[in-house]
Formats: sequence, C-alpha cells, structure tokens
Amino acid sequence: MRRLLLIGIGAGDPDYLTVQAIRAIDAFDVLFVVTKDAATDELVTARRDVVARHRTAGPYRTVELVDPPRPWREAPDYRAAVVRWRAQRTEQWSSAIRDGLADGETGAFLVWGDPSLYESTLAVVAEVAAEDDLDLDYEVLPGISAVHALTARHRIPLNRVGRAVQISPARLLADGMPDGVDDVVVMLDGRTTFATIAADGIEIYWGAYLGTPDEVLIRGPLAEVADEIVRVRDAARARKGWVFDSYLLRRR
Ligand SMILES: C[S@@+](CC[C@H](N)C(=O)[O-])C[C@H]1O[C@@H](n2cnc3c(N)ncnc32)[C@H](O)[C@@H]1O
Repeated sequence: MRRLLLIGIGAGDPDYLTVQAIRAIDAFDVLFVVTKDAATDELVTARRDVVARHRTAGPYRTVELVDPPRPWREAPDYRAAVVRWRAQRTEQWSSAIRDGLADGETGAFLVWGDPSLYESTLAVVAEVAAEDDLDLDYEVLPGISAVHALTARHRIPLNRVGRAVQISPARLLADGMPDGVDDVVVMLDGRTTFATIAADGIEIYWGAYLGTPDEVLIRGPLAEVADEIVRVRDAARARKGWVFDSYLLRRR
C-alpha cells in the first residue's frame, strides 16, 4: 500500500507547526510540491524551509506538480471551471503518485494553514485514493488556519457568546453582509470587497501576511479604516508582488 500524509503547516509562522506535523516531516520518502505562478513562489520556499528546519531523517525525493492554469476569474461559469480544473489536477496527481511513490512508501503534501479550509488538496487526494487500481491510504494532520491566526493576532474571540460565525470567500460578499449573519470571516479577497459594502455599524479586524515578518494588522469601524486598509494593502502588494489577507466583519 502507498501512504500519503496531508500535513497542515499553519498559515504563516513556522512555529505554528504542531508536534504531530513535525513528526510527520520526518516520516515521508517523497515530498509532492505544487508550484503555481510566480506570486506563490514565496509560499513554496516557505514549505521547503519548514522541511529544512524540522527534518532530521535522511534524504527524500521531491516530485514537482506544476498546477494547471486557474481560469475562473474570467470563466462565465465559475463552478464548471473549478470542476474542470480539479479533474485536470486529479489526473496529474494520480499519475505522479503512481510513478513517483512506490508500494510501501509514504508521500507528503505540506498544506498551507489547515487542509480542510479552502484547499483542494484534500478533495483531489480523496478522488485519487478512490481509484480502484491504486492502493492508496491517506491521513490528514490539522494545522493553524488563517482564521485562527487572525483572531489570535487581534486577540479576539471568533464567536460572540452563543452566536454563529460564517466563513466566506469574498466572492459571496459582493452584495454586502449576508442576511442574518453578524460575524463573517472573509478569505480569498483579491478585490478589497470590504471597501465596497455598506459600512454602517460594522467593525473590521483585518490582517495580511499573518504570522510572518510582513504581518500587518488594522482594526476599527469599517467606515473609518477601509481606505487605510486599501492603501496599506496596495503598498504591500506592490512591494512583495502578492498579498494574502483575511478579515472578520462584525456587526455592532
Ligand atoms: C487557498 S486559501 C488557504 C487557506 C488555508 N488552508 C488556511 O487554513 O488558512 C488562501 C487564503 O487564506 C487566507 N490566508 C492564508 N494565509 C494567510 C496569512 N498568513 N495571512 C492572511 N490571510 C491568509 C487568505 O484569505 C488567502 O486568500
């Protein structure tokens, strides 16, 4: 049987790694590394650094998986574009695992944050593992997500007493806070959506590059701080070439 470890490595700080993740870094024979565009090179480097820092076992092999292009921003049908992209990934990963991982060996993917949150690694591996002629088992090791990095760095509880919290991609906030929701964590925002919604009565807790030396935190009434966040975010993105930010919107 082949074995895969999906290791959550936390969303920024190398110290976010759990003891379980550190042990798993010593347990693989093959590291599968997904490379995307130039903007995410830094995240690939961060993963390599994590292995260099924690691995004490002997050498390992690396298999690079060049990600298929992600056309969904322009695609008229978002869901269909995602389904197509996932199918391409599944095919690519299936043959890479068959060719690169021998029977009895353990492979690993280092997954940013937690593997269960806005990550397709887990879904793609589940599909590959379901292939009848491939004897593959996999294990998921949880990590500290950007959601928890955000609340820790702002020193706030995620929920208010007895209340619900929604986690949402920014795409679904185009028309403002969802009805009936008072607390929403927004991720995957390429377009500063927070600056386009009705701001009255809403507090924002915003963080970029959480847990890294570039971390920036801004909080306050959305109406008062939205412009500042846009300015700071634009400047950071111009300087680094990419930005990862998340925020909690909380109705007062
Ligand atoms: C593809 S999702 C991956 C989420 C990841 N699995 C997690 O558990 O945090 C990428 C999004 O996560 C958020 N994110 C990840 N790392 C972050 C960080 N260090 N600071 C702020 N936001 C981050 C951003 O909203 C980004 O657009």
